[in-house]
Amino acid sequence: MLGSSHRRRQSAEHLSVNPLFAQGSVLAPIPAKRLPQDEMSSAAAYQIIHDELMLDGNARQNLATFVTTWMEPEVGRLMTECLPKNMINKDEYPQTAEIEHRCVSMLADLWNAPDPSKAPGCSTVGSSEACMLGGLAMKRRWQQARRAAGKPADKPNIVMGINVQVCWDKFANYFEVEPRLVPMSGDRFHLTGEEAVKLVDENTIGVVAVLGSTFDGSYEPVAEIAAALDKLQERTGLNVPIHVDGASGAMVAPFLDPELHWDFRIPRVASINTSGHKYGLVFPGVGWVLWRDQASLPEELIYHVNYLGGDMPTFALNFSRPGAQIVAQYYMFLRLGREGYRAVHAVCRDVAGDVAAKLAALGPFELITDGSQLPVVAFRVKAGIENFTVFDVSRRLRERGWQVPAYTFPKNREDLAVLRIVVRNGFSHDLAALFLADLERLLPELERQAEPMDRELAVSFRH
Ligand SMILES: Cc1ncc(COP(=O)(O)O)c(C=O)c1O
Repeated sequence: MLGSSHRRRQSAEHLSVNPLFAQGSVLAPIPAKRLPQDEMSSAAAYQIIHDELMLDGNARQNLATFVTTWMEPEVGRLMTECLPKNMINKDEYPQTAEIEHRCVSMLADLWNAPDPSKAPGCSTVGSSEACMLGGLAMKRRWQQARRAAGKPADKPNIVMGINVQVCWDKFANYFEVEPRLVPMSGDRFHLTGEEAVKLVDENTIGVVAVLGSTFDGSYEPVAEIAAALDKLQERTGLNVPIHVDGASGAMVAPFLDPELHWDFRIPRVASINTSGHKYGLVFPGVGWVLWRDQASLPEELIYHVNYLGGDMPTFALNFSRPGAQIVAQYYMFLRLGREGYRAVHAVCRDVAGDVAAKLAALGPFELITDGSQLPVVAFRVKAGIENFTVFDVSRRLRERGWQVPAYTFPKNREDLAVLRIVVRNGFSHDLAALFLADLERLLPELERQAEPMDRELAVSFRH
């Protein structure tokens, strides 16, 4: 390969080899935390990193994450073809932009937007960015309304259950909105309409309803929350929108629970997000956020870029981003269609239900959720068992490669410690049987131990 044009300009008589192709020696110690002085061969660099990454464990045995850990080889080819493309360059890569647009339309249709061709929306890095955008739009709409009414707009708050994912704490913190969190109480582990309205006032920019709580996989009752807000409006005139955080559930409920009203069929639902990389079945990271109509997304938040000589509205926190995940999402939409998604998720729910039933039958465990909403099973060690804890179970399962998080619930239910299994595409009945056999095998040892091991593993890998 010829050297750089810079060198050629300097000395046209010489040919030089691109440093990437020089076969450097790797015998000398290589600093891990400082930029090495010299280059090395591509094969050596690959092998060093490949070997180190073996310690990450096996992603397929990771029952902690909601994020896709298996895709078909064909999609790998498509993604590799897209690696060099920066999706923000809409003008240079108009077809990737078109594909993003098609995905938004498909989701708008799936989520029953009044006019799917007009519902604005965009891809994001994941649900976190999507939630920030949804929250920002609510904040800006509230500010506009307050200013138009000649009222102060400096004390916004947002109402949500304490079970919201950390991205909502971030939103409140980064964008200076007071978080009003409804605590858990007894066996109520998520938001209800009755509790939500208690915290709403004229400074509330919106209510977040989570379709698929990260803690236990349960759906928050979006329709009930909307009905409570309808009543509040009748009483007080306050018109408070809902953002549905459907990070997981917005790609499950449309296929498995088509009768459940949680989406744009509810007029109060202004925006919805999902993670394409969760039950959208795409490798990380892609998310989506959509608004029910143009009125729900203030024009002043939109930036216009030139696209095929035309106008392309964008709304994002990032600029440069890979196009590969968007293309992979479109692949999955085309590949599976509604029936394919239904079939894949139905198997997940079936596996989750089976795992739940068998866990309950083992004896020492009590179910918190049984996988009948998100295919997620949360369970605890029965009250009265004192000699081992969920943290011990989690630690012992790791010895067989299974990653199952154990964690305590938040305020008011800190006493409750659970394990959670997320059933994803690829966690088949066969793998579930192997997992349960491993758990069953280690139970007698746990039951024999005199007291719990330390709680150091009070794990943070609950995503
Ligand atoms: C309900 C909910 N919202 C938001 C997120 C953040 O999603 P992401 O990882 O796509 O940013 C998660 C992640 O698990 C989640 O469960």
